[in-house]
Amino acid sequence: MKESVIKVVLVGCGGISRAWVKPLQERKDARLVGLVDIRKEAAENLASQFNLQDIPVGTDLPSMLKTVQPEAVFDCTTPESHYSVAMTAFGHGCHVLAEKPMADTLSHAQKLVEISLKKKRIYAIIQNRRYTRWIRGIVNLVRSKILGQLTTLTSDFFIGAHFGGFRDRMKHVLLLDMAIHTFDAARFISGVDPVSVFCHEWNPVGSWYEHDASAIALFEMTGGVVYSYRGSWCAEGMNTSWEGQWRLIGSKGSAVWDGNERCQVERVKGKTGFKREVEKLEVGFPELPLEGHSGLIDEFLRCVRQGKKPLTAAEDNIKSLAMVLAAVESSQKNKPVKVVW
Ligand SMILES: NC(=O)c1ccc[n+]([C@@H]2O[C@H](COP(=O)([O-])OP(=O)(O)OC[C@H]3O[C@@H](n4cnc5c(N)ncnc54)[C@H](O)[C@@H]3O)[C@@H](O)[C@H]2O)c1
Repeated sequence: MKESVIKVVLVGCGGISRAWVKPLQERKDARLVGLVDIRKEAAENLASQFNLQDIPVGTDLPSMLKTVQPEAVFDCTTPESHYSVAMTAFGHGCHVLAEKPMADTLSHAQKLVEISLKKKRIYAIIQNRRYTRWIRGIVNLVRSKILGQLTTLTSDFFIGAHFGGFRDRMKHVLLLDMAIHTFDAARFISGVDPVSVFCHEWNPVGSWYEHDASAIALFEMTGGVVYSYRGSWCAEGMNTSWEGQWRLIGSKGSAVWDGNERCQVERVKGKTGFKREVEKLEVGFPELPLEGHSGLIDEFLRCVRQGKKPLTAAEDNIKSLAMVLAAVESSQKNKPVKVVW
């Protein structure tokens, strides 16, 4: 039987929206039926770049939703708008796929989760770094218990990024704008939940950011796992990947992963000795039909059709947002705080 086409309105037609429109246009089971941006010229530019002049563009989301009656809203607006956009979408009976972070505050995120569950709408957040074959290989490695029980996870994120624009003036820029990806990956890899965090943020000498662009955070996780994060957006030279450089330590061995295709694994083989003998193992990276934003959009549309939960469902993703907000709180209070959601 031929599948019906899911109608989608995209709101927020800035930089990242390009990564959404392209995969959407390649699909037969979904169609963009409207573009919204508070800056009309942004919506018009996006329409003209992707030959979408035949669909309506507007500045007012409620009237667009009333007119074109989509099943889903794709939210690519800035973080402070995510709450009002998702609330409006749910109010019109739509499913929502939204850019990270879910919301600007925990109470906004909690309300959004509550309403989406009450209205039985699919609500997922873009954590595109869960949709690579590389991280899937690492998750499989941990779940297979080849390294025994995971005890310790560390990640380094060091990139000297000269963005210009809003990030140069944003408070807690590294934690709020980037660390959500790394913290979410830590949850995905470890399979456990955050408990508490102690975080220190600072703005190094020579930084081109107005506010703290470096941070070190230590998380206590459930199951006795400890996760440490070191990051900076003004570290030039010897940069890590955008996915970060990781070390995983289990009760039977360790792995070092560059966030992409390079992973070295050593598992204990010997029974005695000051340093027991280890054997090197290969990690298998499974093929994914679609990666990044394309993979998430694909899964979201499938879940809308089948009523299933996406991997990045909001009620789970709120834990990654909670890690970020707790790290900011800990840094401000200069003491460990509980991670709550
Ligand atoms: N997943 C990723 O890898 C990734 C990468 C970059 C950005 N992002 C996220 O995507 C979001 C957007 O980032 P960007 O870089 O595209 O920003 P941007 O400033 O380039 O674009 C945002 C657009 O949203 C519009 N907008 C803001 N509030 C609106 C509202 N209430 N209604 C309609 N339009 C509104 C703005 O006018 C602007 O055109 C952010 O949440 C950011 O964190 C994610």
